[in-house]
Amino acid sequence: MNVLVIGGAGYIGIHTVKALLEAGHTAVVFDNLSTGHQEALARLPAPVPFIRGDVTRAEDLERAFKEHPVDAVMHFAAKSLVGESMQHPAAYYHNNVLGGVTLLECMRAHGVKTLIFSSTAAVYGEPEAVPIAEEHPLRPSSVYGRTKRMFEEMLEDYRRVYGLRYAALRYFNAAGADPGGALGEDHDPETHLIPIVLQAALGLREAVTIYGTDYDTPDGTCIRDYIHVSDLADAHVLALEVLSQGAGSGAYNLGNGSGFSVREVIETAERVVGRPIPVKEGPRRPGDPAVLVAGAEKARRELGWRPRWAELETIVRTAWEWHRAHPQGYRTARAGAPPLD
Ligand SMILES: NC(=O)c1ccc[n+]([C@@H]2O[C@H](COP(=O)([O-])OP(=O)(O)OC[C@H]3O[C@@H](n4cnc5c(N)ncnc54)[C@H](O)[C@@H]3O)[C@@H](O)[C@H]2O)c1
Repeated sequence: MNVLVIGGAGYIGIHTVKALLEAGHTAVVFDNLSTGHQEALARLPAPVPFIRGDVTRAEDLERAFKEHPVDAVMHFAAKSLVGESMQHPAAYYHNNVLGGVTLLECMRAHGVKTLIFSSTAAVYGEPEAVPIAEEHPLRPSSVYGRTKRMFEEMLEDYRRVYGLRYAALRYFNAAGADPGGALGEDHDPETHLIPIVLQAALGLREAVTIYGTDYDTPDGTCIRDYIHVSDLADAHVLALEVLSQGAGSGAYNLGNGSGFSVREVIETAERVVGRPIPVKEGPRRPGDPAVLVAGAEKARRELGWRPRWAELETIVRTAWEWHRAHPQGYRTARAGAPPLD
């Protein structure tokens, strides 16, 4: 299938473009490069057309739909920093909600009816029970989570009225890097635990701060469900194929169903890198639930999804290989690679 990948120059998007190409699909990347990296496209196994555009601008999207055949859309583009969303809600509603509806309208105008959407565990808010199943009430505690829930609601209305087929994939904590070594995580500022731990191991930051050591968990630190980015990518390809075979629309949790504490992640990283990593302890951050672990049976059952890099140590090892080889992210690659045209 021909897939238009909105936000395809970002961390999860580019890994998914690679998985699409490997599965025999074609991809076009559409991205405003606000947090993505055009350099990453040069590291894909085959050339992929790139359109620099903004999902909130219908004229930019029109260009993509007019210039390329599009059978389905994957929508990764978002602002996704929880803390920032509480300080600048307008920017989040603009990008994540207005951008979403602009995309849906463009798809409708061009008769494209299949969409895979990057949703998040943040739609659940403070969980009533873990593991969290898809039926758990959606009570997001941040503006970021609310923008994602709103777009999920829009998807359901577009399904009901206009026959949209969609999968809203609720990722837990995306982590790791392409096991082939070509792609990885490159965010600035970096807010995700595993890259922060590895940057501390590389001496790129003074220490990793543990926010809260008095949670009601075995070692007092928060527990999260880490899922390898290439496993997320595979789930997108499966969702695309299952939807195109006529399966029903809906939401799917994507996680491994097992949780690791912040201290366990740091200990695993110390084993992988082979040396101690400097740690500081700080206060809890508001809105951080003690435990977030996915009930991900639905994706296994309905999409046939089987995570291939589920071990925490494997996730950390692939991330370490990427960060060690690319301490400045894709900019490191630029220094040694031929110039982009
Ligand atoms: N990383 C995680 O752990 C995680 C967890 C849950 C959900 N998500 C969601 O997954 C998606 C991808 O996350 P990521 O970590 O790859 O983020 P990312 O920031 O690396 O990727 C987002 C991409 O979208 C692009 N983009 C942003 N706004 C745009 C706009 N208006 N127009 C065009 N392009 C735009 C950015 O340039 C970037 O390339 C996001 O929607 C995020 O909310 C991520």
